Amino acid sequence: MFPKAKIALFASGSGSNALKIIEHLQKEANFILFCNKAQAPVIEKCLALGIETVVFNRNDFYQTQVVEKYLAARQIDLIVLAGFLWLLPPTLIAQYPKRIINIHPSLLPQYGGKGMYGAHVHQAVFEAAEAQTGITIHFVNEKYDEGEIILQKSVSLSYPPDTPETIARKVQILEHQYFPQVVAQWISENFTKDVE
Ligand code: GAR
Repeated sequence: MFPKAKIALFASGSGSNALKIIEHLQKEANFILFCNKAQAPVIEKCLALGIETVVFNRNDFYQTQVVEKYLAARQIDLIVLAGFLWLLPPTLIAQYPKRIINIHPSLLPQYGGKGMYGAHVHQAVFEAAEAQTGITIHFVNEKYDEGEIILQKSVSLSYPPDTPETIARKVQILEHQYFPQVVAQWISENFTKDVE
């Protein structure tokens, strides 16, 4: 028997990636959802699965250490950002070296940085008529989208038929395929050693 990893999923939108990770890693991990939008669909989906859910606001996150205290109290091993757009406080990053993983819907360093998220990325890729796009899964540091890259996967584009919507769909397919794999890999490297 291996111990289960305790994973904090930070998400603020539909939560499709968070749900894929939960679905694929039920045996290997326990999850808590951290969400900064009280109306985000991801909350209802996680509650339906019986997943503990913590909602916080900007003041909680940046002016108090309530989120950090919660993570520490729950002895969280890994933080996974699955559609979370706020920059993390430096104190939080310092507490979890190589233990915070983000997914970004482009081939970083292209189309990264503040304001580049979700549909904005796909629109920019389309307008530049890029021949390819993809995903980047990376550790988080104190700058937007600049942490050490763990995995990138690309997909070809052409015009026609590609549009911002088809680009988004192609990227989402990659995200759903590879994000759970990367988290599983992190767990196997950090939780299956030294255990009888
Ligand atoms: C994902 O495409 C993820 O790459 C993106 O938000 C989406 C969340 O979708 N993250 C960023 O753009 C971070 N800069 P989901 O709620 O369906 O998982």
